[in-house]
Amino acid sequence: MAVKIAPSLLSADFARIADEVARVTAGGADWLHLDVMDGHFVPNLTFGPALVKAVRQVTKLPLDVHLMIERPADFIVPFARAGADYLTVHVEAQGDLARVLADIRSLGVHPAISINPPTPLEAVEPYLSLADMVLVMSVNPGFSGQGFIHEVLPKVSALAARSRRFVIEIDGGINADTAAAAAAAGAEVLVAGSAVFGAPDPAAAIAAIRARGDAARR
Ligand code: DX5
Ligand code: ZN
Repeated sequence: MAVKIAPSLLSADFARIADEVARVTAGGADWLHLDVMDGHFVPNLTFGPALVKAVRQVTKLPLDVHLMIERPADFIVPFARAGADYLTVHVEAQGDLARVLADIRSLGVHPAISINPPTPLEAVEPYLSLADMVLVMSVNPGFSGQGFIHEVLPKVSALAARSRRFVIEIDGGINADTAAAAAAAGAEVLVAGSAVFGAPDPAAAIAAIRARGDAARR
């Protein structure tokens, strides 16, 4: 399977969000990744369903909504209504996550589970059969522009070796070089924020990440 590239809008210019979406859409993005932060689960605040809805109105690309929030159960309905295609909750979050994943599916949205760098893979075991995607974090979540944590790659390889129905996504510090390592380990969806929106030519940045990722998967 060819890799998918999901530019993270966290690194986009929020005052020109429709232009930024158009720019990466024309530049070959497969999905758009939207980082929701609540100031509790991570030490940063971003946006809620209103921005997801606004982005939904200007693109047909799948919207991959990454919930870095303490109590995801309280917010899955508004994010589903806003037009999310994937809703990712963290295994480190609070609440009955099996129930949350099942509720996401019942809303017609793909459920996904994410795991932070320090968390062992065993923590996601109970949820793998309920998820369409597993997001392995390769930075500690909260901010774009951090360095890639190579030590998470064994988690990617272990997931890739399983008989599975979920896809494997990686998020944090992805650029053309780290994309190769991530894809070689088995990552299929590559999220990239600063490497895409911080580049002088986002289309060229997407192409470079894709080329290195696809080459590493062969
Ligand atoms: C980090 C977010 C990431 C972030 C990635 O908490 O989940 O999606 O935007 O940004 P880069 O690619 O710059 O590490
Ligand atoms: Zn993210």
